[in-house]
Amino acid sequence: MSMLEAAHENDTEPEGACEGSLVCSTCHVIVMDMEYRNKLEDPTDEENDMLYLAFGLTEMSCLGCQVIAKPELDGMQLAGSRDFAVDWYVPKPH
Ligand code: FES
Repeated sequence: MSMLEAAHENDTEPEGACEGSLVCSTCHVIVMDMEYRNKLEDPTDEENDMLYLAFGLTEMSCLGCQVIAKPELDGMQLAGSRDFAVDWYVPKPH
């Protein structure tokens, strides 16, 4: 199960408009801890192309539809980029 699917099962964001087809960036999420970010697979070129279009891109960004749950990620916290920007994060230009 991807993080996007897990979010939808719990009636929460992100949107995920293309449902994991890698043609949008509406599933953009931010990993809250570098320890977990380092456990993720390197993004593919296709994923990077979509990430570059994401609002509030950071080095901790990833596409929720591409992050698949696995035991090593147990406890990982993600923030939706929209929520993050509204609460306290000031996005840097990219
Ligand atoms: S849902 Fe569109 S790229 Fe993830």
